[in-house]
Amino acid sequence: MAALRPLIAGNWKMYGRRADLAEIDGLWKRVGASARALDVLICPPAPYVAAAAEAAKGGEVQIGAQDCCAVAEDAARTGDVNAAMLADAGARYLIVGHSERRSLHGESDGLVRRKAEAAFAAGLIPIICVGETQAERNAGKLAEIVSRQVRESTPAEGGPFVIAYEPVWAIGGSTTPTMAEIAEVHALIRETLSGNFGARANETRILYGGSVNPKNAGEIFAVGGVDGALVGRASLKAADFAAIILAHPAAR
Ligand code: 13P
Repeated sequence: MAALRPLIAGNWKMYGRRADLAEIDGLWKRVGASARALDVLICPPAPYVAAAAEAAKGGEVQIGAQDCCAVAEDAARTGDVNAAMLADAGARYLIVGHSERRSLHGESDGLVRRKAEAAFAAGLIPIICVGETQAERNAGKLAEIVSRQVRESTPAEGGPFVIAYEPVWAIGGSTTPTMAEIAEVHALIRETLSGNFGARANETRILYGGSVNPKNAGEIFAVGGVDGALVGRASLKAADFAAIILAHPAAR
């Protein structure tokens, strides 16, 4: 399988203010030409997507969003934001099915799939998140859970999408799976995608997420089957996120 163009994405979650958008320009200043062989993405909170897209204009950092309403059309849905609005505001990618949404908002695989379909309809590339909890892992259910999430959260048809493998227990802490474990789960995801999508599965980038930082990024990027990363805390500051990007072998 040919190497895919790496994607290193920052998920700002519910952090940051307008003033923090200066980090985007700071990031490009730090990585600039070195990052031209990679896709670099920042997903700020929804109210800042438009201003982030504006702030990103001087470089090639792309902007994404973190969630959308599963209803693609404009509708009487107070407080909801659809994918078309996020695209109109300047987003190119859309994270769907993050474990924080699955657990805190009860999002099912079916709902995540509909959000990914809404992203396609708006011309966005969905980043579909999957990953097991510690309890599921302890119960020996990792393969069952992750392959089910991949099968049931991905639309049968549509544009390209990205999968992010984020073990829930590795998010927001300081531990990650071993490199062998990451390789194993990424291979399982690729195999599950092949079962569903045939050769098209080879075009799908599979990111690792969960406690990626400037110290461990190089080791993670060297793992076979890892096409980039989805980074939380360490994406908030340009210096840290730049160090992660520059740890990728494609950054020269
Ligand atoms: P951390 O990098 O802060 O562990 O968060 C990972 C994550 O959830 C990214 O979506």
